[in-house]
Amino acid sequence: MMTNLSLRQQKIVDATKNFEVTCDVGCDHGYIGVELLKNNKTKFLIASDISEKSVKKAENLLKKENLLEFASIKVCDGLSSIDKNVDQIIIAGMGGKEIVHILSEYKNIKNTKYFAFQPMNELVFFRKFLEKINLKIIKDFIVYDKKFYHIITAKNGDFKLTDFQSKWGYKPKQRNSDYFLWLDKKEEKIKNIVTKLPKYNEKSEKFLKCLSEIKKIKKTKGARKC
Ligand SMILES: C[S@@+](CC[C@H](N)C(=O)[O-])C[C@H]1O[C@@H](n2cnc3c(N)ncnc32)[C@H](O)[C@@H]1O
Repeated sequence: MMTNLSLRQQKIVDATKNFEVTCDVGCDHGYIGVELLKNNKTKFLIASDISEKSVKKAENLLKKENLLEFASIKVCDGLSSIDKNVDQIIIAGMGGKEIVHILSEYKNIKNTKYFAFQPMNELVFFRKFLEKINLKIIKDFIVYDKKFYHIITAKNGDFKLTDFQSKWGYKPKQRNSDYFLWLDKKEEKIKNIVTKLPKYNEKSEKFLKCLSEIKKIKKTKGARKC
């Protein structure tokens, strides 16, 4: 059976590395984990989800693909029932604060070699949290798949993040054409808001600062594919 990955899911799979054990937290249907097993990007998969219904879907897919023997399936909140050492963790399609909650509860971060995240929102908060827990950002890029999605990978290591980087992304060299499309949309939205605000107040100052930062990024535009 073919696994029909969306472009977003495919980009998440592409952003992962090859490891022995990968845990896909919030696996839902299990598409991402199954793709990893099929492409030998992981030898063993832990597919977990807080929803029993989702875990059942993942189990059915693994069965159909004859991959059940290479997987363990768990119903749990985040990584709370993951006792095995995991090389790689994927957490995709959840709010930034939910991912932060999951990572905050996990005691084994230092033994995990690689992380792939796709937070749906709260990107500034999320990047700052990674800095706080010493997870160094490796990839930070955008994919457009009917909507804009941020994909961030990280590994253990110290790093410093400026306010500018937490807002506009840590990896300027990974700003691809989808990033600049996202920036255009953001600029358009802010310009629209600014026209409706009084000229000199705290809010409009904040938005005007954003517009000048966008201008700065566009000036140094060096679009690259990731
Ligand atoms: C939008 S789906 C994303 C599915 C898949 N990760 C993807 O990106 O295609 C989000 C999934 O996360 C699960 N989820 C939400 N909060 C969770 C938590 N705290 N722990 C585990 N799973 C969670 C939901 O039940 C749902 O199946």
